[in-house]
Amino acid sequence: MPRRFLVTAALPYANGPLHIGHLAGAYLPADMFVRYLRLQGEDVVFICGSDEHGVPITLRADREGVSPREIIDRYHGLIRDTFAAFGIAFDYYGRTSSERHHQTAQEFFLTLHRKGVLIQKTEAQLYDELKGMFLPDRYVVGTCPVCGFESAYGDQCERCGSALSPLELKNPRSMLSGSTPVLRQTTHWYLPLGRYQKALEEWIATKTHWKPNVLGQCRSWLEAGLADRAVTRDLSWGVPVPLPGHEGKVLYVWFEAPIGYISATQEWAERIGEPERWKQYWMDPETRIIHFIGKDNIVFHCIIFPAMLMAHEGYTLPDNVPANEFLNLEGQKISTSRNWAVWLHEYLEDFEPDLLRYVLAATMPETKDADFSWRDFQARVNGELADVLGNFIHRTMTFAWRYFGGRVPELRNPAPIDTAALMSLLSYPERIGSLYEDFRFREAVFETLNLARLGNKYFNDTTPWATRNTHPQACANTLYVSLQLCAALAVLLEPVLPFTAERLRRMLRLPEQALRWENASRPLLEPGHELGEPKVLFHKVGEEAIARQLARLHTMTEQAPMNTPSSTAGAVLPPLKTEQISYDEFARLDLRVGTVIEAERVAGTDRLMRLIVDLGLERRQVIAGIAEQYSPEQLLGRKVVVVANLAPRKLRGLESQGMILMAENPDGRLALLSTEAENGAVVR
Ligand code: MF3
Ligand code: ZN
Repeated sequence: MPRRFLVTAALPYANGPLHIGHLAGAYLPADMFVRYLRLQGEDVVFICGSDEHGVPITLRADREGVSPREIIDRYHGLIRDTFAAFGIAFDYYGRTSSERHHQTAQEFFLTLHRKGVLIQKTEAQLYDELKGMFLPDRYVVGTCPVCGFESAYGDQCERCGSALSPLELKNPRSMLSGSTPVLRQTTHWYLPLGRYQKALEEWIATKTHWKPNVLGQCRSWLEAGLADRAVTRDLSWGVPVPLPGHEGKVLYVWFEAPIGYISATQEWAERIGEPERWKQYWMDPETRIIHFIGKDNIVFHCIIFPAMLMAHEGYTLPDNVPANEFLNLEGQKISTSRNWAVWLHEYLEDFEPDLLRYVLAATMPETKDADFSWRDFQARVNGELADVLGNFIHRTMTFAWRYFGGRVPELRNPAPIDTAALMSLLSYPERIGSLYEDFRFREAVFETLNLARLGNKYFNDTTPWATRNTHPQACANTLYVSLQLCAALAVLLEPVLPFTAERLRRMLRLPEQALRWENASRPLLEPGHELGEPKVLFHKVGEEAIARQLARLHTMTEQAPMNTPSSTAGAVLPPLKTEQISYDEFARLDLRVGTVIEAERVAGTDRLMRLIVDLGLERRQVIAGIAEQYSPEQLLGRKVVVVANLAPRKLRGLESQGMILMAENPDGRLALLSTEAENGAVVR
């Protein structure tokens, strides 16, 4: 009997494109696990979808001055397509704005309400009188009570990392209007988590097989004691609270988003024409539910969502939550606001998806934070994929074509070395398989590559180029065995390199029925089997390509904000540009010295500043993305260098009539250029 699995990967917020951290954190390990299970013939459904509510969406919409609907439609499509391009093979990719999800989430809430689980409380919260709305934590900025940072958010100070509540901020300001919010009473529904503390403790005590990083976080939450948590919010964007008299209130995004796993499974079941089938995956305790997530989601998946499921009754709790740690990039934290990221859709303009899948799988932040660097990418692609795996397959295939007419030779009177190679093959699928079962993806990938290493060593040791003349049957035996190793790789590589594995299967003309995990332990190709044409599987990544990626990474988009980065470790300078321009091209720029005579933050953004710059001959309005690094006071009276003939453009409805030049430090901090020249002086 196949085992039944429901595998989920965290629903990404549809508020921006995906980057390598997303892939390495949740989606790649989930996909590898699912592909492995499918090859084992298990019954598995793989569910994901876009998280389309909550402050991350509305903040993005406010920042761009568009509706939340426009944001989610744009990014839902981009994210879905990016996953597909990377071979992340969901059975269903839903979205939490769907009607089905709204209905399922509302029913879930109503069930808890009907059971008397939820508590209603009235508390004071910050209210923006100008905008006429309650402010979510992220919409309040103010001075951090811990470190004095002036732009701390209502839920966290990004400088010292303290978790905050908006009421703790000194001098709080609304990010929407800039006004000082007032306290106003509002009523919300709370989930009394404390009531489930004991049951959660008992349940987690049975999870001795969970990863230590996950258990550690669970224990510290439980030790601190679980408090009531509001499950509703005063917002207009979200799943409306399905109770009369609650207009303008929605379900808290972290309450309804995990229910998205359930509603997406329901939509999957409807789509395959078996609308009741989802219950097998959510209500039959035999089903193993596995949530793949990043470490910032642990408490929601291991404490809060399970408590919700306990309160509701009837649902199966997760069997495992193999959360990953974080992936850094070139030694620094990935930051979407600073544009310090490798965006997946951009990566695809330059490289094959499998290369990144491989490198991320081999370096995955499984037990501690890991680092992605372009140099390491290059070294692994060239040294492991091309030189080890690609080389073994290529030398075997070309040899088979050159000397055996593209057919699998017969194995006769094998020497001990041939039998030994086939014997070691026997143990690979099981060994790699148990690593996948234990969520040890890095080791699984390493072991898979070991089979190619073994192949290369075997090929070298049996010297078929020499035995071809002296012992033709020994040569035939070498090729027989080597081709079987290639065929085994065509199966075993499928979880990590699905596109390559498919090309390899086509090259070997390996029938799709052969694609079963246990088949990889024994010879898959019959003597006389006709092979396809040899093709190169991996091309080496050159210096230029890497230099281009590093340059792109360091060229921050003009308007990317500049938080003070938490660490400067490993900061690197972008390489000097090799492309030359003529003096005439340079002279087309009209660079002028000016003085900042007015400076004010642009309401509703945390990074834009509206400046008036005196250029001597005239005054210009410049909208600059420097508000996170400079206060208006720091800018007033400063000399700056302005690109005076840049075509004007509109930012948040304000015309920007030039650009201020700034220098970017290797760690991303920006600095103004200083000068003693007079206003209007020409820079050249
Ligand atoms: N959107 C959340 C994030 O990116 C994850 C939501 S997972 C779910 O952190 F369980 F809520 F769906
Ligand atoms: Zn602080």
